[in-house]
Amino acid sequence: MSTSTRIANLHAREILDSRGNPTLAVTLVLESGLEAGAAVPSGASTGTNEAVELRDGDLARYGGKGVLAAIRGVEGPIASVLRGHDVCDQVALDHAMIALDGTPNKGRLGANAILGVSMAAARAASVVEGVPLYQQLGGEEACLLPMPSMNVLNGGKHADSGLDFQEFMIVPLGAPTFAEALRYGAETYAAIRSILHKGGFKTAVGDEGGFAPALENNEAACELIVEAIEAAGYRPGEDIAIALDPAASSFGEGGIYNLARAGQGRLDRTAMLALYGRWINSYPIVSIEDGFAEDDWQGFTELTAAQGQRIQVMGDDITVTNPNFIQNAIDLKAMNAVLIKLNQIGTVTETVEAVALCRKVGWRTMVSHRSGETNDDFIADFAVACRAGQMKCGAPCRGERLAKYNRVLDIERALGKRAIFTNPFANA
Ligand code: PGA
Ligand code: ZN
Repeated sequence: MSTSTRIANLHAREILDSRGNPTLAVTLVLESGLEAGAAVPSGASTGTNEAVELRDGDLARYGGKGVLAAIRGVEGPIASVLRGHDVCDQVALDHAMIALDGTPNKGRLGANAILGVSMAAARAASVVEGVPLYQQLGGEEACLLPMPSMNVLNGGKHADSGLDFQEFMIVPLGAPTFAEALRYGAETYAAIRSILHKGGFKTAVGDEGGFAPALENNEAACELIVEAIEAAGYRPGEDIAIALDPAASSFGEGGIYNLARAGQGRLDRTAMLALYGRWINSYPIVSIEDGFAEDDWQGFTELTAAQGQRIQVMGDDITVTNPNFIQNAIDLKAMNAVLIKLNQIGTVTETVEAVALCRKVGWRTMVSHRSGETNDDFIADFAVACRAGQMKCGAPCRGERLAKYNRVLDIERALGKRAIFTNPFANA
């Protein structure tokens, strides 16, 4: 190992995410003097079994949300263990951090601390090797660009709109290239803005850049999207489809779902299944993520049995990018696709393993941002590297969301003729 690839030191500092909450920015320094950095995102509708995000709990600072303890962990014990390690051996250094933490959920050092280092190491390795990050992580085969799902209407824990469901996304699956997909999406987003404006609705946006209007009910959101797709000159279902993330853990427990905001009352599992069935018949829906709560494996299994041939049934809070929970989902036939978030599990290596497990059983994957984001665009490269096929990072609005989409544009340009962009739902 040459001195140029050995880790010399780690620095971390507290920065603010897109909600104004503290998070970590990590800088990794090599013996050669080369530096690389990464910033860590943070969710709002988090799964109970996600790896632990270490917060100080000191109410005198940021309402307890400070990350000074996580920073001390990076600069103290993590730096001590990683000093002298080869930055290009991602697996070894991720495992060294997992061992140092010693807990099953990264509760001692914090998944936020560990992930910041893990991502910064991947970036440093890509600089050392002189290749782009997607190629460093994915090799020569990393040519598949992700189909974007853009979150154009925000509800649930991401906005105080009239919507119980958290995310109503548009999927430009008829677009021939990623750049065109982004254009389809941005034009439809603009059409939604003008329809809302004309209807006297507010056009302020939620945490992920989607509009947050006080619509009458959850159905009205789907109607609005279909109207906007047509107004923008596209064919619903053929050019642009709809993907939902109800994030049902935020309004459901014990098999009962409370659609209170939209005045639709309390529905049991069977009624929710029937509701999804009606929606799938009425709107061009290709994907439902977290249609049931994280404690409702039965709901997932029933939805997959009933609709899994027609749509993508995807887990997020229930699978938390954790190979153990994904394996459980495989055993129960509880879904046919998995959302992938680096900070749910806390290292690049384990996230790669989660994607590999899905691929092994033929399940689709979608790499995802968090509702609390920074301008770090790591996930764009990551989605290409692991050939995930899909990605979601909010509306085509707000800098921290566009940073990722714009990075995929750059990757598409760099790959040139080698770039592949396909409709992942073509055979659904
Ligand atoms: P979160 O939401 O980042 O607030 O958890 C994203 C999601 O549920 O997919
Ligand atoms: Zn989700």
